[in-house]
Amino acid sequence: MDASENQTSNPRIAAGALAISEIIEARLSRRGFLGGAAAAAAVAGFGCTTGPQGAQRARVAPEFLFSEIARGADGDHHIPEEYAANLVLRWGDAVTPDAPSFDPHQQTAAAQERQFGYNNDFIGYYPLDARGADSRRGLLCVNHEFTSTRLMFPGLTERRLLSQEECEVEMAAHGGTVIEIEKDRTGGWRPVVVSKYNRRITAGSTPIMITGPAAGSDRLKTEDDPTGREVIGTFNNCAGGVTPWGTYLMAEENFNGYFLGELDSDHPEAANHTRYGVPGGWYQWGRYFDRFDISKTPNEPNRYGWVVEVDILDASSTPKKRTALGRFKHEGAESVVAPDGRVVLYMGDDQRFDYVYKFVTARAFDADNRAANLDLLDDGTLYVARFEEDGGLEWMPLVYGAGPLTSENEFYSQADVLIETRRAADLLGATPMDRPEDVEPDPASGRVYLMLTNNVLRTPEQIDAANPRANNPFGHIIEIIEPEGDFTSTRSRWEILVRCGDPADPQAGAAWNPLTTDNGWFGSPDNCAVDPHGRLWVATDGNEGTGANDGLWAISTEGAKRGTGRAFFRAPNGAEVCGPRFTPDGKSLFLAVQHPGDGEGASFETPTTRWPDFDEKTPPRPSVVAIRRKDGGDVGA
Ligand code: FEO
Ligand code: CA
Ligand code: CA
Repeated sequence: MDASENQTSNPRIAAGALAISEIIEARLSRRGFLGGAAAAAAVAGFGCTTGPQGAQRARVAPEFLFSEIARGADGDHHIPEEYAANLVLRWGDAVTPDAPSFDPHQQTAAAQERQFGYNNDFIGYYPLDARGADSRRGLLCVNHEFTSTRLMFPGLTERRLLSQEECEVEMAAHGGTVIEIEKDRTGGWRPVVVSKYNRRITAGSTPIMITGPAAGSDRLKTEDDPTGREVIGTFNNCAGGVTPWGTYLMAEENFNGYFLGELDSDHPEAANHTRYGVPGGWYQWGRYFDRFDISKTPNEPNRYGWVVEVDILDASSTPKKRTALGRFKHEGAESVVAPDGRVVLYMGDDQRFDYVYKFVTARAFDADNRAANLDLLDDGTLYVARFEEDGGLEWMPLVYGAGPLTSENEFYSQADVLIETRRAADLLGATPMDRPEDVEPDPASGRVYLMLTNNVLRTPEQIDAANPRANNPFGHIIEIIEPEGDFTSTRSRWEILVRCGDPADPQAGAAWNPLTTDNGWFGSPDNCAVDPHGRLWVATDGNEGTGANDGLWAISTEGAKRGTGRAFFRAPNGAEVCGPRFTPDGKSLFLAVQHPGDGEGASFETPTTRWPDFDEKTPPRPSVVAIRRKDGGDVGA
């Protein structure tokens, strides 16, 4: 959903870029940075050959040895020849035994509520044995980020208004799926439809509790919910996370797009809504449901933009929006247990010139008492990142009463700070980034990988060391180094791992290890995974801007090959690749193929591919794919 993420609503940028004092400060310190040790690397044209200073790697990751696939674009997916892939779940497949068979020509909300939703994005895998190592049977947790309306419904080649039933189908196709899966005799994976764990979570019907410091705030109250503690549904769940205590985190990203209507400019929520791009007006739900019309329900948008936690071991549990983690366009929420036992979550706010966050729980994780962990995410400290020009990183706490976060700036409680997380971070002077997507910690090394997908709005005056290219259509990847592996630290280091784009094109300003082949570079990193060996894998959304389809690449982070990309998976036309998720044994990899068949003018009748069924009567179907080595070995070896 590039359209909104590609705008900026950051007033520090929109009102004429950073304050002039900030620009001067950035220029001065940048000069100092380039005069130092980084200058030699910059002259060499490749700034990432040196290893990080603070890393405490506990193992040496094996090299990537798979047969690299070719760049290109066609209607099918591609994997290395020594690998096999099987479809695990497609849009419309049964999640519960009462699901009717899929009929895309006569889809109903009642059917969709029981079937796998649309546009699968995040994938979590949770082993079902007590030791957390089961790689033959587990729970798959999948987000359904949004609906591609023209590809979902027949007869939309001419623009027309959707019926209420069609809007309800869309709402039922959003949200998430929890489903048991098992490995079959061939080594492939299949859903277990009769399972006590299986459930759909949707935008239209799932009751969700609001918890944490903002719960019960007057700004979260509506006519339907005078408590400010209960909301129906979640939507635009992009990436997410799985916690060590077996819950699934669904990050609410572009919630602004679901609201219609207007507010008077002097309404108390008007400026807040503007900072988040509300109302986006992408969906028609507000024509039938007042809560999506801000002129009728002005507080409703404040009830979205949170991280939702789902107890996947109890299908009857009520999901919870954890307000302590802040409100923004959450891309994901991957967690790690710090050496002192506290849990740290890393989160990007995916919009041009928005910020990177981490949350540190107040209490420690208790491996022996699951119940004690279930509300850990209600209490802790949210920090926003300032990337310094010399490679330092300051994590600044967003705490009511501290610094500018006081009544002088119209913050009257921690609830206000969290509801307006972006404005609070603006005031602290956080670093505006090139669209932060996934942020993935590696527990063994203390390193954290940050995907910055692209930003063509950045001007030459707005570059800084952490966002070093003006007009950046290809994005870059930053490695954050937590000192001594202490993920709770408020002082970290950072360096750029790769600057994406074509290394053979001098105009691109790309920087890869020269060992990278013509297939191994890419643009627009989005989702990523660290495999059980500590190796980095990166999926793209927007690589078609380089003339080839999106896919999954392996990237070496160590030694002489550091910064080398290697192509592993290529998506069919129109699709981005999401998920990446490995089983604990490293022998299976799950990928989410999102919006296959999309493209200029594409519709239900005229998709750019009919993947994966290739049936003339069936539209393309977003699907989860499982990939394994044919010989049963580790993926990537
Ligand atoms: Fe939904 Fe930031 O990708
Ligand atoms: Ca994403
Ligand atoms: Ca995406």
